[in-house]
Amino acid sequence: MNHMTAQVEEAIHAEGEEPLDVERIRSAFPCLHQRVNGKPLVYLDNAATTQKPRSVLDAITHYYERDNANIHRGVHQLSIRATQAHELARLRVQKLLGAESYEQIIFVRGATEGINLVAQTFGRSNVREDDEILITQMEHHSNIVPWQMLCQQTGARLRVAPINDRGELIVEELEKLMRPRTRLIALAHVSNALGTVNPVREIAELARERGIRVLVDGAQAAPHQPIDVKKLGCDFYVLSGHKIYGPTGIGVLWATTEVLADLPPYQGGGEMIKSVTFEKTTYNDLPFRYEAGTPNIAGAIGLGAAIEYVHSIGLDRIAEHEARLLDYATQRLSAMPKVRIIGTAAKKAAVLSFVVEGIHPHDVGTVLDEEGVAVRTGHHCAQPVMERFGVPATARASFACHNTMQDVDALADAVKKAIEVFA
Ligand code: ALA
Repeated sequence: MNHMTAQVEEAIHAEGEEPLDVERIRSAFPCLHQRVNGKPLVYLDNAATTQKPRSVLDAITHYYERDNANIHRGVHQLSIRATQAHELARLRVQKLLGAESYEQIIFVRGATEGINLVAQTFGRSNVREDDEILITQMEHHSNIVPWQMLCQQTGARLRVAPINDRGELIVEELEKLMRPRTRLIALAHVSNALGTVNPVREIAELARERGIRVLVDGAQAAPHQPIDVKKLGCDFYVLSGHKIYGPTGIGVLWATTEVLADLPPYQGGGEMIKSVTFEKTTYNDLPFRYEAGTPNIAGAIGLGAAIEYVHSIGLDRIAEHEARLLDYATQRLSAMPKVRIIGTAAKKAAVLSFVVEGIHPHDVGTVLDEEGVAVRTGHHCAQPVMERFGVPATARASFACHNTMQDVDALADAVKKAIEVFA
């Protein structure tokens, strides 16, 4: 592990040494270099999934071409190499999150599975009839439905803290809902539909004073800003690999050692056991206790490469770059007649949701696609947010480190065209 830790440190210390060179960054993403409907692709659907840099694709190919074997099980060389690569990825995640120990890093399929794991382990063992789970009005369905299921199973109640007209969480209302029977607060770090950045640290502090656990859905935050789970003060943090330039089907659940120590097992199977007889099974050490079955080895390795990639640029600089893109896009779109931006929080990250008066968002998206501009249209798996703002859907542009001001201009020009077409 020491040798691996040194490799991770080296990658992180490379951060910030060179100015952000977006052209160089763009050249690392093969998928960006294509034409769509005869126009150069402008990819602004990064909140749905990010494109993958060459180093991630190479890491996955290298694993399958050279090291493919099952992990933690073999004494042969391929298995040893595969195990090392997989565990190096875990160390990279540990560094990404500022976690105290690799034992706190559990590989899952994505943020959704991480939340379901917490609901079915922490939730099933700590939440009783008439207890309360507190979420916010801006949550993704992944951070609503697992809690509804838990409430159905236990007789607990789901409480929802409101947001204001800018799409900001009303923290005083959330605080009022932190009651003696509240067992857990689950909230997004960054809203996928609005871009709002929630004051997680402040909320975690309020919760801690009351003995309430906090789960943070970091799917839309981890790709866009440095994360330090110790500073945030939460108990659980989840993220999805494919939103941070890694592959699909891999994600992370981080939890404190204190919480993990009391957590019952999740899925049963191989890898999560120490010994099995028909009478009794003893469970494996952390983090393997929560990784039943052959894991997504290539996915973890790809995620490790993705983390190395963002560290080679610097998450601080990615955040600054994307903030400039978001500011410029906000200026361009808010200057247009008929365009209404949904989500105008003071603190936002990488997401610009909007509607155009008189044009359905899907029609906006179709015209944008004709211009080579890829955005997501729909309810963004956050139907309660749409309801809060009285719209069925929005069009959403979402930014990544490889986007440019020209991409924003292409977006604005395409929206203008949509307005003309439907005038
Ligand atoms: N959660 C993803 C999104 O916001 C799929 O688009």
